[in-house]
Amino acid sequence: MTQPAPQPPPQHVAIIMDGNGRWAKARGLPRLEGHRRGVETVRTVVDTARELGIRYLTLYAFSAENWKRPSEEISGLMGLLDFFLKRELNNLIKEKVRLHTIGRIDALPANVQRELARVKEATQHFTEWNLVLALNYGAQQEAADAARAYATAVQEGRENPDDVSWERFSQYFATAGMPTPELLIRTSGELRLSNFLMLQLAYAELVFTPTLWPDFGRADFVAAVEEFHRRERRFGSTSEQLPSGPR
Ligand code: IPE
Ligand code: IPE
Ligand code: MG
Repeated sequence: MTQPAPQPPPQHVAIIMDGNGRWAKARGLPRLEGHRRGVETVRTVVDTARELGIRYLTLYAFSAENWKRPSEEISGLMGLLDFFLKRELNNLIKEKVRLHTIGRIDALPANVQRELARVKEATQHFTEWNLVLALNYGAQQEAADAARAYATAVQEGRENPDDVSWERFSQYFATAGMPTPELLIRTSGELRLSNFLMLQLAYAELVFTPTLWPDFGRADFVAAVEEFHRRERRFGSTSEQLPSGPR
């Protein structure tokens, strides 16, 4: 029997990294300790993405709604982000990973903005591997920002509303130029999107795992990608119409 042809990996995987607080609570530790362990998981998933041939990895690190958290937790998270960026600069250069961000970066603390700018600039010429951090990101805020930029373009005569389409309008989104995420993973058992990439995920395969983010390892990532490969992606057509035929 001939082996089935190996399936290409998803080009873009987006992850909602959730469950740090519960991981810490279960151990009687402060929430920040869970976030600290979560940073180590980020290192693992960046490595695994490259190993699997996933060119874009988008990580939801801080939502536009996460400002509601206690101020000590927010400053702890910002401190960890600063630490992560300083620690990873050389690794990202060595591994040829380009850093991108989506979200309203200008509301982040000045030191974090500085580190982000430094890492982005140092990695901007890399094309093969891409790490996208969603920071102060919300899909609804992104849509509002896109609408504002589009309206300005109309006022300036650069766009004609008669020509609007998703292909065109999406160029005003923070993810412009990136492939659409084909796989979304959310850890910690929560079954919701929490304002993450809602339009871009229109046809993504959604994989939810009960594993808490600090416990999410290489094997969990591989299992999620295997689950993705088992799905039949029809995009509105019938099974029979697919080039691979019905399953
Ligand atoms: C995800 O873990 C990290 C961020 C949202 C920054 P949580 O902090 O949401 O962990 P839980 O959901 O409280 O367990
Ligand atoms: C979503 O997780 C945001 C990030 C992972 C950064 P939350 O823990 O903030 O989401 P909700 O509040 O449970 O929906
Ligand atoms: Mg959470």
